Formats: sequence, C-alpha cells, structure tokens
Amino acid sequence: MKLDDFRLLLRGKEFVPIIIGGMGVNISTAKLALESARLGGIGHISDAEVNAVADQRFGTSFVSNKKAKYSSSQNNRNKAEVQFDLEELAEAQKMHVSKTMEEKKGTGAIFLNCMEKLTMNNPLGTLKTRLSAAMEAGIDGITLSAGLHLRSFELVQDNPRFYDTLFGIIVSSVQALKIFLQRASRVGRLPDYIVVEGPLAGGHLGFNIKDWREFNLKTITNEVLQFLKNQDLQIPVVPAGGVFTGTDAVEFLQSGASAVQVATRFTVTKESGLPDYVKQRYFQASEEDVVVNTVSPTGYPMRMLKQSPVLKKSVKPNCEGLGYLLDSKGDCSYLAAYHDELEKGANEKISIMEKVCLCTGMFAFRCWTCGHYVYRLKDTTNKLLDGTYQLLTAEHVFKDYQFSEDHKIRLPELELEFA
Ligand SMILES: Cc1cc2nc3c(=O)[nH]c(=O)nc-3n(C[C@H](O)[C@H](O)[C@H](O)COP(=O)(O)O)c2cc1C
Repeated sequence: MKLDDFRLLLRGKEFVPIIIGGMGVNISTAKLALESARLGGIGHISDAEVNAVADQRFGTSFVSNKKAKYSSSQNNRNKAEVQFDLEELAEAQKMHVSKTMEEKKGTGAIFLNCMEKLTMNNPLGTLKTRLSAAMEAGIDGITLSAGLHLRSFELVQDNPRFYDTLFGIIVSSVQALKIFLQRASRVGRLPDYIVVEGPLAGGHLGFNIKDWREFNLKTITNEVLQFLKNQDLQIPVVPAGGVFTGTDAVEFLQSGASAVQVATRFTVTKESGLPDYVKQRYFQASEEDVVVNTVSPTGYPMRMLKQSPVLKKSVKPNCEGLGYLLDSKGDCSYLAAYHDELEKGANEKISIMEKVCLCTGMFAFRCWTCGHYVYRLKDTTNKLLDGTYQLLTAEHVFKDYQFSEDHKIRLPELELEFA
C-alpha cells in the first residue's frame, strides 16, 4: 500500500495525508509550504521571529527600528522595558501570511506553526496579536506548538474567523492532550486535528532530557487514539517525528492515524530556507553527530547537530532587536548566564556552554536542529562528482512519501551541473 491510498479529511475537505511541519526560523519557507499545498497536502509557514522574517522577505525594518528604540537598555541584565510594538507585530504577521496566501495554488492548505513558547516579553498580548493577525490575513489553519498555552482559544474566540480557521495542537502525551481539551471545553471548541510528536522529531521536544529515549511515537499515538475513542471524540490524529519513508507513514494510517507530519526530509530541498552549505552538513551528518541537549533557553530539550556553530561561540544577546524568548518579566536564561559571566570578569570572548542565544542562533542559521534520522538523508539523493549531495525538490520528496512502497526511497534524476 502507499500513502496515496489514504486521504485526510478536515471539515469535509480531502487532502493528501502529508503535512510538512513548521520549521522556524523560516526554514519552512512560504515556497516550501506552497509546494505542499499545490500538490494537495498541507504546508506550514512558521511565525517564529516574524518581524525579522518580514524584514528579510519584504525589506521592512522592524528589527533595526526596535533595536534603535531600546538601544539604551543594551547592557541591562533585565529587559522588561524592551517591548514589542503590537501594531508592528500585527503588520509583520499580516504581511507574512497574506503574501503567502495570495500565492496559493492547488487543492491543499497553508497552516501557520505558532510556537507559543516564544513569549516575547508579553506572552498573552503577543500571542493574541499573532493569532488574530494570522486569521485576519486569511490563513487556512493554525498549529499551536511548544509551550501550548491553555488560554489560546479563549484569547481569540471573539475573532470573526475563529470558527472558520482550522486549529490544531501539538502534544507529546495523552496527559498534555487531556489538560488542553479540558480547558478548550470552556470555549466549546475542540481542536480540528492533533499532532502527536514523538521523541525523534526535530526542533524542541516535549519530553524530559533524562528519559526521552524511553518513549516511542507508535505507543503514544495508539494511546491518543484509544483515549479519543474512549471519549467518543473524532479528531484526526497526526503522528510526527521519525516518519522517514512513505511506508512508515502507511503503517501509522493503517493503525488509525489520519495523516503524518514530516519535516527533516524537506530540510534539504531547494525550497527550504537553510543556506545551501548547511543543507550539505545535514546530508553529511552521521548518527553520532546528532545530539539532544538543554542549551535552549525555552527549557525544552532540543535536537541538533553537534557541529552547530551556536554551540561553539557565545554571542552578545540581541534582545533589543530580537527578544523573542524573553519571558513575562523580561528575563531569559541565556541573558542571565551571559551577565553572570560578565560579572565574573569575563571579557569579550565570553564562553557559555550551558545555554545559547537561540534568537540569534536560529535567525542566523547557526543552530542546526534536525530530526533523529537526519543521518539517513544521504540515502535520499545522489552524491555528485565534487563530493556534494544533489539538492532535492519539495515535489520530489512529497511524491516519494505519497507513492513509494516497501520502504523504498526514490532517488532524484541525476542533475549534471557544468561550470
Ligand atoms: C529544522 C527543523 C526545525 C523545526 N522547527 C520547529 C518549530 O519551529 N516549531 C515546531 O512546532 N516544530 C518544529 N520542528 C518539528 C517539525 O515541525 C516536525 O514536527 C518534526 O520534525 C517531524 O519529524 P521529522 O523531522 O523526523 O520528519 C522542526 C523540525 C526541524 C527538522
């Protein structure tokens, strides 16, 4: 059987059951998401560091203006005063979403990945602004991810597009799902789909650093399916994390899932936002290069390549320009670690091992986060004469998931490049 023998049904509309997961910061570009929609599946854009992404995409100056406005707080340990201007945030989000939606073709859909742990020095105000602006700009659906806020639905229930927009959540356990559903019942709105993310996914993990290895996606997915059945709830379940072949996906659909969410295989496509030299590092990776650590100031474990530049060099925090990880009090654990070092008398060449400046690291593609099976990417393409790996197209990878059988992975046609 192949994945194309199944369809994902959301509010009566059929999709190829492939969802390309959100990959911040702008790794899941509009181009990548649009390809998935064109081919009948679902693609995510991400609103992580959206002001910075808008500057890159549309030539606006949100980051430099904010940086200039708060330049006097540059050496402060606490950044409570460094607030996002909510109107500007809404403007950036609307540009990011509406320009993507304008280009949409095909029968699929474009969703937004909203990582709620980006608390932006004003968790509720910025979250409400991000969600409202995305709905107003016409997004088809929103996936609430890491840091799931129990009040998310309440915050936007008065928005005229609240019932029109599809909402999904990402959870890693039945427990987390139960808590969210309890709270959501207050607004009488259930999620339209549930992404169950296992311990092999890329980005942040919803598991404890000590015992993530003890969990597996199949078991958690089955627990979620059973729980929903017991509750008589019919919500599509979408496993994510380590689904590497079309046949992996088929196995999940045969046991009751409705679609799969995948990401790592798309990181090395031409449409992915990673710079080409980083794509080559993903291809070159070996299993030993993949680490799960606690350097992210979010407090969640994160998977990345151990060669990530962010692990080698510490930078001065740029909360004035970026500041997406500042909590409600204007603090961030990297900021605290940085100032602790300064107080110890460290000079410019400061080196902090336990935390990294993730805002800068992700924006500058210096944190090479990836799914566990990143080391299998080299088997999905051709090695060229110069020793580099041939980049794939999103269409090729999408169709490989859709049509392949027996765990086979189809290689792309050899692309000969002449100087
Ligand atoms: C490079 C990269 C960046 C990611 N960034 C995010 C993110 O910003 N928010 C999120 O919810 N998930 C993020 N993820 C997780 C994916 O959306 C997806 O659920 C997961 O990686 C699927 O597993 P796979 O990569 O093994 O296919 C990221 C994954 C990768 C590989």
